[in-house]
Parts: sequence; structure tokens; C-alpha cells
Amino acid sequence: MAVETVPCTAYEDQKPGTSGLRKSVRHFQQPDYLQTFVQAIFNAVPELRGGLLVLGGDGRYFNREAIQVILRMAAANGVARILVGKGGILSTPAASNLIRKYQATGGIILSASHNPGGPDGDFGIKYNSSNGGPAPENLTNLFFEHASKLSEYYITAIQPVPLDKPGHYEIEGLRVEVIDPVDDYAELMATLFDFERIRALLAGDFSLRFDAMHAVTGPYAQRILEQTLGAARGTVMHFEPLADFGGHHPDPNQAHARELMELLYNPRKVDFGAASDGDGDRNMILGHYFFVTPSDSLAIIAANAHLIPGYRNGLKGVARSMPTSQAVDRVAEKLGIACHETPTGWKFFGNLLDDGQITLCGEESFGTGSDHIREKDGLWAVLFWLNLLAVRQESVEDIVRRHWADHGRHYYSRHDYEAIATPAANTLMTHLRQQFDELPGKVIHGKTVCQADDFTYHDPVDHSASHHQGIRILFEDGARLIFRLSGTGTQGATLRLYLEQYEADVKNHDQDVQAALAPLIQIAETLALIRTFTGRDAPTVIT
Ligand code: G1P
Ligand code: ZN
Repeated sequence: MAVETVPCTAYEDQKPGTSGLRKSVRHFQQPDYLQTFVQAIFNAVPELRGGLLVLGGDGRYFNREAIQVILRMAAANGVARILVGKGGILSTPAASNLIRKYQATGGIILSASHNPGGPDGDFGIKYNSSNGGPAPENLTNLFFEHASKLSEYYITAIQPVPLDKPGHYEIEGLRVEVIDPVDDYAELMATLFDFERIRALLAGDFSLRFDAMHAVTGPYAQRILEQTLGAARGTVMHFEPLADFGGHHPDPNQAHARELMELLYNPRKVDFGAASDGDGDRNMILGHYFFVTPSDSLAIIAANAHLIPGYRNGLKGVARSMPTSQAVDRVAEKLGIACHETPTGWKFFGNLLDDGQITLCGEESFGTGSDHIREKDGLWAVLFWLNLLAVRQESVEDIVRRHWADHGRHYYSRHDYEAIATPAANTLMTHLRQQFDELPGKVIHGKTVCQADDFTYHDPVDHSASHHQGIRILFEDGARLIFRLSGTGTQGATLRLYLEQYEADVKNHDQDVQAALAPLIQIAETLALIRTFTGRDAPTVIT
């Protein structure tokens, strides 16, 4: 085989963040930038030699070129077999499923998730291990180590693989199988949910819209919702994956899925609305004139899991990321199961899932999932809700309100200050840390602080510790303020402020969310001097 050894200069900034290596497209287009990181993966995971690799991405700009480069490098690095999605497409959950189902050594997923795409947008690459989940921190650190000292990479000079034609190709000892990206995933969903019942729901006067945001879930949602479950044609909006997502942020939240929001907040009744992100792992759930916070969605999914075929036998336990509201904790307590609190990022759920300690997990950032794969799963959450609506025959709003009546309501919101100057963001965090000692016991705007710290996670399975996972200010009444700097942004720093206030009394469950959180918002400003440090009067995005 004609393997070319290419000398290269190492890049020193290839440290994966919350979810893989994510940079602007232009950054990735620097000479050999992609190649050095890919070689670092091959060097760090020697089992890939002779192994099976799953490969695909969310279809964004640079996806196709990157796939051809990785195929050539895989051949040179001795990979035996590759499953690649047709057109280079694989949603993150579908890739996770393929890795598990075909017992692959691992997978490479090309995506910058919900970040914008196109030549001026972002690109990303992440490696998933044989359990189907994102590489844990020790492995991503190893990628970084290898990348920082790399002096050469290996590549073959093969013809581009025809990605648009399913079939098998033999290239220099590497067997490339171009597969339908939807088949295996659709099959898995049918094993978890009562498709007959959902079909019956959709055959009635129930109406729904799903916004694929011109990202990867279009083909998945059309196949499952329209072709299999019988939803009306046109149910799936923005179904065609586009390299630049039509110029939008493929982020399923109230700010970015504006067209969908307008359809649901409209007298012409649509019963259910949902959206997914760039790579298909996030979800937003809406009812008529009603938004379900992701934290509530996780809690409601946990509380109702016994009604869904795949979860009929009960839950082993649940987990949420630290900033996610504590709504699911209350459900776990009632069910008598464990609830784990992990740092932000799906990779921290992997050990708990593999070890059989949890069945469900989720994050406030529109991510929910279960032990069926090792990634969060947008369409899975949508199907879960549809199955639940079909069983309970109530509206989305009624289900959520009943849940609040039973468990209390966690008023919750996240305020993002995007693209602020990195030194300013660091100073703000330091300013907060300096107050840790004096805060406990202090009364601020009428609320008493009981604890202030930097969150550290001790993994109960591998006993590793992850430090500095967000600043927590906890109050005596259960309210919380969390401050974190994003690990996925590509410009400057993004400050995330998470606000949570518990309200037990059903008489107080009708407040506007921002109004209910106003006292906490004021305390956050007093403690963190956000305006002073960031120079911003208001958050960029509120979810
Ligand atoms: C964000 C979310 C986090 C999620 C990640 C990947 O990370 O906050 O929950 O796991 O995207 O989708 P962050 O930018 O906050 O580091
Ligand atoms: Zn995503």
C-alpha cells in the first residue's frame, strides 16, 4: 500500500472541550490542522489498527472533505473496516448506535452541534469509544498530548470514495461500507416505543410539527414520523440538511427555532412541536402556547417511564448535569432510586450508564437520553413524548402542570453572555471565587446563602476527580445560582448563568419565569458584577 508519511508541525491548541475539538471552519482549514488531530486519535487508540470505525457527520460545510481525508488516513493507519453514512451523514445518536450494534472499536463524528455552519461558521470533530459514548477526559487529554507533539501523519493517495452510493468499496486493504444512515436508528426506536399507539394518536385530530432546522435530523424525522408513524407530509419542517443550515443557528431553543415557536404560539392549534439541533442529539419540546424546560422534560420522562415499553421494568437510577434543575431529583426520591449529579457534558454519564447505575440522564441544554445509546438523543425524546401523549391522552401543558402539582415547580432559566472578552470572563469568575469564604450565612436581597464553591465531581465508577466544573451559590430555600464558562464556544468566552428557584405551592405556579427569577437575577448581578465585567446590559440568549 502506498502510505505517505507527511512531516508536520504540531498545533498547540487541539485540546478538546465539552464536546470534542470545536473551532471555526477557517481554523480547521489551516494546513494539516484536521490531519494532525486525526493522527493524534489513531496514535492514542492503537486498537483502531485492524479495527472497525464508524464515520459520519452532521453534513455541515467541510464535512465531505473531512470524511475523504479521514478515509485516506484510516487506510494508512491500518483500519480494517469503516461504516460511513451515505452522503457522509450520521446523526450523533445514530453513530453511537452503530458503534454499539456492530461492536466497533470507535467512531469519528464530524459536527459542531448547534453552532452555525458554512465557510464562516464552525466545524468540529469528536471521537466516541467502543461503548458508543464520547471519549472520556483521560482519552481526550491523550489526544491533546499526542497532537501537541506530533511530527508526522500517515495518509494514502486513494481516489475519493463515492459517498452518495450505498455499497462496499475495497481501498488499499480497507473495506469501506457506505450505509443508509437512518435504517439502524429507526429500527432501534421501534424497539423502545409503542409505534402502534403513536400511529393511532397521529391518525386522529392530533397535530404536530417537527423542525429539523436544515440539519441532520431531517431524513431521520421524515422516515420515522412521516413514513413510519403516518404523520402528515410536511410535518417535518426545514427537512433538507444544508451545509450552512440555511444561515441559522441549528439550536433548538426559543430564540433560534423562531418559525416553530410562531406556529405553536398561534390560535390555530398545533398540539405538539419539537426541534432538534445540528447533529440530532438535542431536543426542544413544545405544547400549544407552552414551552417545556429541558429540566422539566427530564423529570417528566423519569416520572412516566413505566408507561413506555422500553422502560416498563423501571429505572435503575437517573443523572443530571450539575446546572440542570433539581426537578428530576424529586422524582428520583419518590421512586426511591439514585440521582447522580455530574459535570456539564454527556461524557460524564458514560460510566454510570455502562455500569448499570442509571437508565435516564439529561442536561438543561436541551439534552435527554437513556441507556439505549451513549449520547443524548433528540428524536428519542420526541418519540418518548409522543408515546406519553398517546398513553395519557392529555395535552403537553396538562401533563406538565400535573407534574408541578405533584412535585412542585422549579422555575429555571439560563442566561448566556456570548463572545465576551476572555480576560473579563476569567476576572469575573475569580471575583466570585474570592467571595467563597464570606458567603455562607450571608443574606443578600433577602436570601441566605448556605454554600458557595467550585463543583468537583468524583466519578463513582473509575474514581477520577474533575475539578472546576462550575461555581455554585446555593441558598437555604433550595434556590441555586450557577456560573460557568462554556467549553464549546469558538469566540472569546461565553458566560452561562443558571438560575433556579423552587416553588412548592401550586397557587404560585403561574408566574412568568423571568419574573419569578428576578430576585435571583438581582443577586447574581450583585455578586458577579456581570455588567461591569462584561460591559453588557443583558444576556445574548435567554433559554
Ligand atoms: C454546551 C452545554 C452542555 C452540552 C454541550 C454539548 O456546553 O452547556 O450541556 O453537553 O454544549 O452539547 P458548554 O458550551 O456549556 O460547555
Ligand atoms: Zn448537538
